[in-house]
Amino acid sequence: MVVKAETWVVREHMRGVPDVDRVYGKVTEELEVDLAPDEMLLRTLFVSVDLYLQGIALDTPLGDPMGADSIMEVVEAGPRAPHRVGDLVQGFGGWRTHVISNGAPSSWQTGTFPMVFPAFRRLDPGWYDGALPLETALGVMGGPGMTAWGTLNRFMTVERGHTVVISGASGMIGSLVGQLAKRAGARVVGTTSSPRKAERLRELGFDAVLPYRHGDSAEAVGERLRAAAPDGVDRYVDHLGGAVTDAVFPLLTVDSQVAVCWQWATQVGGETHGPRLLPWIMFPRTTIRGIFSLEWFTPPNWRALHEELGGAVRRGEIVCEHTVHQGFDSIPTAYQSLYHGRGDRLGKVLVAL
Ligand SMILES: NC(=O)c1ccc[n+]([C@@H]2O[C@H](COP(=O)([O-])OP(=O)(O)OC[C@H]3O[C@@H](n4cnc5c(N)ncnc54)[C@H](OP(=O)(O)O)[C@@H]3O)[C@@H](O)[C@H]2O)c1
Repeated sequence: MVVKAETWVVREHMRGVPDVDRVYGKVTEELEVDLAPDEMLLRTLFVSVDLYLQGIALDTPLGDPMGADSIMEVVEAGPRAPHRVGDLVQGFGGWRTHVISNGAPSSWQTGTFPMVFPAFRRLDPGWYDGALPLETALGVMGGPGMTAWGTLNRFMTVERGHTVVISGASGMIGSLVGQLAKRAGARVVGTTSSPRKAERLRELGFDAVLPYRHGDSAEAVGERLRAAAPDGVDRYVDHLGGAVTDAVFPLLTVDSQVAVCWQWATQVGGETHGPRLLPWIMFPRTTIRGIFSLEWFTPPNWRALHEELGGAVRRGEIVCEHTVHQGFDSIPTAYQSLYHGRGDRLGKVLVAL
């Protein structure tokens, strides 16, 4: 069997904000399908675009396919393959129309730390419908949802009256964490660079939303933050690092908790100062924990995510938004939208092929 397969490959290693026209190139080939007994031919239905892909692109050998989380359908399967024809799976399939794989876990050396992408996960069609469509397996019912839910259920304790601050609150993770913390009775403060998104976050229940974009001074952010969190910061979920994180540390309260989920300033912005302002955690005895959500990708956690967070979405208690771009050719543009013209969009960006 021969299939016409299209792939976005990495053409250039570019630090900082990527220029997708330079970094990615499309390759079309006639793919000869001759499966080993444990292999599958999969057709990609949806791919995810995420900021962490900047690091993945830098570590991908030039000419190799761009990796990414995706939803795929099994088209052909060898007799010992882990999934059957017609199964829907989620895994690190990449920006490709077709994938040949045995679906086993794959290791990835990111340059910062080694990662293992989990085995392809079978998606139970019964879990998805109009309220939670299949593509949410890359959003609220996938990695970003698990990151938000896991941070609040497997690390952080949020109690009534706590002040919870989220940098980069307008993304899918931040907007979910904020809504979940609000339901737990916290005062919720977030940051965004967009006035329209600030309005949307207030509609979702955020008590205060601070304007912030990379490059703002710690003093200016500190002033805004002290006004929004007059009793200090009990819980901090960090997606941005840099000046906003510097402004949070002096406000941490006794027994405070900090989740480092990502840091735009370091990982894209190239600010490589060492851990800073750490003396501020001594008196409050703050716990700082790195978030690595792959550790929570277990069958019991997926079920709990569907029941708890999925249930809240179905009942209309939690709002999550997905922006779906159409067509394989639009993948780099969809990815670029995370950096330029972020506009009014809240939540997850993905592409339907
Ligand atoms: N640690 C883990 O296990 C884990 C798991 C999944 C994802 N992540 C990472 O966590 C981060 C958040 O995920 P997400 O899905 O919520 O991402 P997202 O939807 O892409 O949101 C990104 C956030 O970053 C902000 N941002 C982007 N460029 C910025 C800039 N130049 N200056 C200031 N803010 C900027 C955006 O703010 P605006 O409102 O200003 O647009 C937005 O709030 C991502 O980087 C993702 O890769 C980590």
